[in-house]
Amino acid sequence: MKRKLLSGILSVAMAASLLAGCGSAAETSAPAPAAETKTETETTTEAAPAETATETTEAAAETPAAGGKVGVAMPTKDLQRWNQDGANMEEQLKAAGYEVDLQYASNDIATQVSQIENMISSGAQVLVIASIDGDSLGTVLAQAKEAGIKVIAYDRLIMNSDAVSYYATFDNYMVGTKQGEYIKEQLDLDNAEGPFNLEIFTGDPGDNNARFFYGGAIDVLKPYIDNGKLVVKSGQVDFDNVATANWSTENAQSRMDAIISANYADGTKLDAVLCSNDSTALGVTNSLEANYTGEWPIITGQDCDVANVKNMLAGKQSMSIFKDTRDLAAKTVEMVDAIMKGTDAPVNDTKTYDNGTGVIPSYLCEPVFADANNYKELLIDSGYYTEDQLK
Ligand code: BGC
Repeated sequence: MKRKLLSGILSVAMAASLLAGCGSAAETSAPAPAAETKTETETTTEAAPAETATETTEAAAETPAAGGKVGVAMPTKDLQRWNQDGANMEEQLKAAGYEVDLQYASNDIATQVSQIENMISSGAQVLVIASIDGDSLGTVLAQAKEAGIKVIAYDRLIMNSDAVSYYATFDNYMVGTKQGEYIKEQLDLDNAEGPFNLEIFTGDPGDNNARFFYGGAIDVLKPYIDNGKLVVKSGQVDFDNVATANWSTENAQSRMDAIISANYADGTKLDAVLCSNDSTALGVTNSLEANYTGEWPIITGQDCDVANVKNMLAGKQSMSIFKDTRDLAAKTVEMVDAIMKGTDAPVNDTKTYDNGTGVIPSYLCEPVFADANNYKELLIDSGYYTEDQLK
């Protein structure tokens, strides 16, 4: 991993990042609404009038900054975070004067492709896409490019397509290092005798982010696996063995069921479970509650989903990573604005994310460590959740 060096300085970064976010977006964006209950196919068209889909960048340069149609393709409503991403994008784009076509695809690749086709044919000028499978959009995005429509990859990189102009995301490698560092510090791996038992759960193989999360964490933990201080009793360590199809809670839960019955049913202590995100952490927690009788392990997560924050407060999940979707939306709206004006969008990374056609200029927001001690400041005081949502 190119960014291995980062892992060494993360304990310091962890403290500092409590204060940091993704630029000044927190001041410019309104509080996120609670997870919404719109249908998967909702389209919102009450803002500015649609413009033609065939405009080129040059034509867009003459277009006033505000106005125009933006297609926003989100993967699913099943996971809380995407509801918030969609709601924030819609709200902020509308506030900036754009018409918004927001679609959710029920985690079905064919549905997402056809939603994007519709956005192209109905006059979107910019597409903001959180892909379900980063490798499956090449053909439809070639059509977008042909029509002069610019594409922003949102949160997840779209692979092997030269139609992608920008990538707006969080620092995905840093998410993984924060999770790995947390386990390292909590188990005091440099000083304690050990050995400690660890199990590992990461995300969907079709999501490029999963490899960054896994890579960041494993770069921190691998030396301790190699020297025997961490023992993975299931033997499942490689990415392919610890991936979770669709990031599904159920898939994580059934894999954890099997791991417990084969390795921990006799009371053997499980010390830590590295979970790349909250949906997998939820599956692991559910399985432990049903099948495990030993001392509760350290469990990591990511997203600060409501169910997981409740679990943190109940002592069932140790930490999560807070990625303020208001900030990501604000950055993405800045990118849309720049594209509409024909100027360069803000980026802060031009090295890390090669999608197979070259490096995609990216803006990486900073992920923030969250646990039961700082959730109030991060999540309640910032207006992300209300106290009632977490009861
Ligand atoms: C996102 C995570 C999310 C996961 C599952 C990843 O691409 O970055 O925040 O938990 O997908 O939806």
